[in-house]
Amino acid sequence: ASGGQLSAASPAGAPQTASALPEITVLYGSQTGNAEGVAEQARDRAVAQGFKVRLLDMADVTKKDLKDPANLVVVVSTQGEGDPPDTAISFYELINGRKAPKLEGHRFAVLGLGDSSYDQFCQMGKEFDARLAELGAERISDRIDCDVDYEEPAEAWIDTVLGRYAELSGATAAAAAQGAPAASSGESQWSKKNPFYAEILDTVILNDDGSSKETRHIELSLEDSGLVYEPGDALGVVPQNDPAYVDELLEKLRISHDTELDTGSKVRDALLAEFEVTTLTRPFLEKWAELSDDAELRRILSDEARDEFKAWVYGRHIIDVIEEFPVDNLDAATFTQALRKLPPRLYSIASSYNAEPDEVHLTVGVVRYEAHGRARNGVTTGYLSEHVKPGDKVPIYVDRNKNFKLPDDNSTPVIMVGPGTGVAPFRAFMQERDDAGAEGDNWLFFGDQHFHTDFLYQAEWLNWREKGLLTRLDVAFSRDQAEKVYVQDRMREKGAELYAWLERGAHFYVCGDGERMAADVHQALLDIAREHGGLDEDAAAQYVRDLQQSKRYQRDVY
Ligand code: 2AM
Repeated sequence: ASGGQLSAASPAGAPQTASALPEITVLYGSQTGNAEGVAEQARDRAVAQGFKVRLLDMADVTKKDLKDPANLVVVVSTQGEGDPPDTAISFYELINGRKAPKLEGHRFAVLGLGDSSYDQFCQMGKEFDARLAELGAERISDRIDCDVDYEEPAEAWIDTVLGRYAELSGATAAAAAQGAPAASSGESQWSKKNPFYAEILDTVILNDDGSSKETRHIELSLEDSGLVYEPGDALGVVPQNDPAYVDELLEKLRISHDTELDTGSKVRDALLAEFEVTTLTRPFLEKWAELSDDAELRRILSDEARDEFKAWVYGRHIIDVIEEFPVDNLDAATFTQALRKLPPRLYSIASSYNAEPDEVHLTVGVVRYEAHGRARNGVTTGYLSEHVKPGDKVPIYVDRNKNFKLPDDNSTPVIMVGPGTGVAPFRAFMQERDDAGAEGDNWLFFGDQHFHTDFLYQAEWLNWREKGLLTRLDVAFSRDQAEKVYVQDRMREKGAELYAWLERGAHFYVCGDGERMAADVHQALLDIAREHGGLDEDAAAQYVRDLQQSKRYQRDVY
């Protein structure tokens, strides 16, 4: 959505029946594009029902835009530990700041997107919902907090909200039966619900012997799929749970493998393919507390134990809870009702479609550790590293990410910060720029534990440096010396130059760990703006915020 400012959807396509339907403003804050997708769906459905609609990205909204009373449909996702999407930070600060606009006369309804395996599930949805009411707007429909399996609840919620707006305007919801227009042409037929089975062409371990890491480079074939992607997009992988784990689970629950569920499928098949059976979520624990009627479990879930909860959950899986808080005679249906759907996992694509037509490459960090006396495996990384091999087929789809894109202008410089598997999209960036003969300067900051075993794609970076495509390469091998050295330390060392690159229009990208690295890199950027731009703290914060707002500073962190 380029700007999206007051971009009323073409009324030409709207049915003429709706006379008194009001104008609706769909306002979204989106990181990877899911919230934007839901917002677009809300717009399409509203247009089909005869509403006039404007679609607004929070990134583009100013106080002025909220002057006239509006009928808001707000869609917002939550990042990490309860943060707004990068491009929604300014709007979030606007409505929470001292100069927040008065919103009397406005109406609203909020849809939050999130992931219930995070403690601050849908925190932004909750905050926007509460804050808009505090500012005087009228809530016309209850908020919904959507988990990773958001599509159906979101669609139902949109219809409810549109129905309410129609009702409030006195218009009948006559047109409401009309569905949304079909997906626009050019969209792939392959999706989360209908994945393409891609053959594995090759898988290579990128680390050398002696490394404490296992990072896999996986090449998949897209032949005959019609799938295309751009650098910065992610690949959704629809995984299967580990059969040994599922069998152990069923044994502990004393549920027989072939018990049939309402859906007609056998419980073992369903637990393998349909349900999340490892990661703990609060909703699951709440149901389990009810079923087990266990006081300790209830206590852990209470508000008073919120601080303790995170440490408690760490390393525990569903199977541990079942063991620790047994429930007798649990039937298969009750158990599966307590579970959420198995969400696909998203991996930043490590290749360029133009450079590697009909292929897609991934850089996957295999998660293996021990906790609570049990060996653990990440669901999808375990699936990709242990259960499938070249020749096998893996269900995949392309998940577009509009907010992690190379500059339109090939001569714009880019700075890439990607330690560990975070380097994946930058391999795609370089392949793409190499293929296009792009003239812009490119600077990579890479980091990992050891130079000798963990320099992922070393030969490729060196080759690109030799060719002159990679203008600068700075590496931080954290464990090759007594003191830890990280990418942000290298950024600071080269601060003057980095600032000069930004001043000549460079785009700045960060990919990888979102728990600590992204925040530390962000801080380094603030410090560089202060030190080398001669800015005070507020001005440096504004400088970095402006970079974010204008999408010159983009993050893909997890
Ligand atoms: P460490 O594990 O030795 O602490 C990729 O995983 C690289 O990121 C590793 O070298 C790792 O170092 C490093 N890393 C860990 N925490 C980091 C942080 N907060 N910021 C930047 N890099 C970090």
